[in-house]
Amino acid sequence: MIDLSVSIGALKLQNPVLTASGTFGYAEEFEGLIDFRLLGGIVTKTVTLDPRPGNSPPRIVELPNGMLNSIGLPNLGVERFITEKMPYLRRLGTRIIVNVAGRTGEEFVECVRRLETADGIDAYELNYSCPNVKEGGLSFSSDAHVAGRVTAAVRAVTKRPLITKLTPNVTSISDIGLACQDAGADAVSAVNTLVGMAVDIRTRRAKLATVTGGYSGPAIKPIALAKVYELARRLSIPVIGIGGICSAEDIVEFLLAGATAVQMGTVNFYEPTATVRAVEDLEKFCRAQNIFAVRTLIGAMEL
Ligand SMILES: Cc1cc2nc3c(=O)[nH]c(=O)nc-3n(C[C@H](O)[C@H](O)[C@H](O)COP(=O)(O)O)c2cc1C
Repeated sequence: MIDLSVSIGALKLQNPVLTASGTFGYAEEFEGLIDFRLLGGIVTKTVTLDPRPGNSPPRIVELPNGMLNSIGLPNLGVERFITEKMPYLRRLGTRIIVNVAGRTGEEFVECVRRLETADGIDAYELNYSCPNVKEGGLSFSSDAHVAGRVTAAVRAVTKRPLITKLTPNVTSISDIGLACQDAGADAVSAVNTLVGMAVDIRTRRAKLATVTGGYSGPAIKPIALAKVYELARRLSIPVIGIGGICSAEDIVEFLLAGATAVQMGTVNFYEPTATVRAVEDLEKFCRAQNIFAVRTLIGAMEL
């Protein structure tokens, strides 16, 4: 029997495979396609204090090795999330991590404070990094002081595990990560999408209504891996790796580079069963390599 379990602070996962926010909806969309109980956990689509419509179309562009999106953060708002989405999520038999965003630090705090009234939430992921939100969204991700201040304020209202999700669109991701760690985060997750764009050469218009958007998918994996490596070397809290992960082999790469767990995102759009296949293949890989506990791979890259 291979032990696939890992721990993110007090949060125990039966295996290191999570779904990435915004690519798995609120799980209902995947009902009948996969057995949720086989996952390490589910990270929900971002929830905000008030309902939001998201950005205008076109907001998705498919590219050869990835995709651009400028979805924004369309969602029902925290109150309807609690009454309409949590009852389904809490009976899925897997860990539920609720991803939260706000326009201001106060909105992050208020959103988490309301979620504290709901049962069945195993952890929060604070989305500091969405490149598609205009109202100061980037300052949470690119200013270590702001990231630290918001993390400390949210820490003060919850004992549940707190993960801060970081953007790669900064000079030093580990400076931001350290500020979150010092402010009481239990883990960081990295990366959100990279800023990118595409132009239609016939109409001479940007392919996204917002002109620039977030680039994700297999093309960003080497960049994400380098960011995870940087974070894992400087931080003492766990790092959750995200970016272009499609297979068990990709997961092992992230673990070796220092990730404790991973999230799979864009792959869910073209292979909805990719997460459970990756869990199965991870177990097969460990068996073939005589690895009895997957956590022994964490940070085990030879230099
Ligand atoms: C269509 C789409 C929507 C996304 N929505 C969110 C979101 O609501 N909140 C968030 O924190 N990240 C969001 N992300 C970012 C992903 O969670 C992930 O960090 C990123 O796509 C990189 O992983 P991947 O290459 O495996 O997709 C979104 C990504 C995509 C492609």
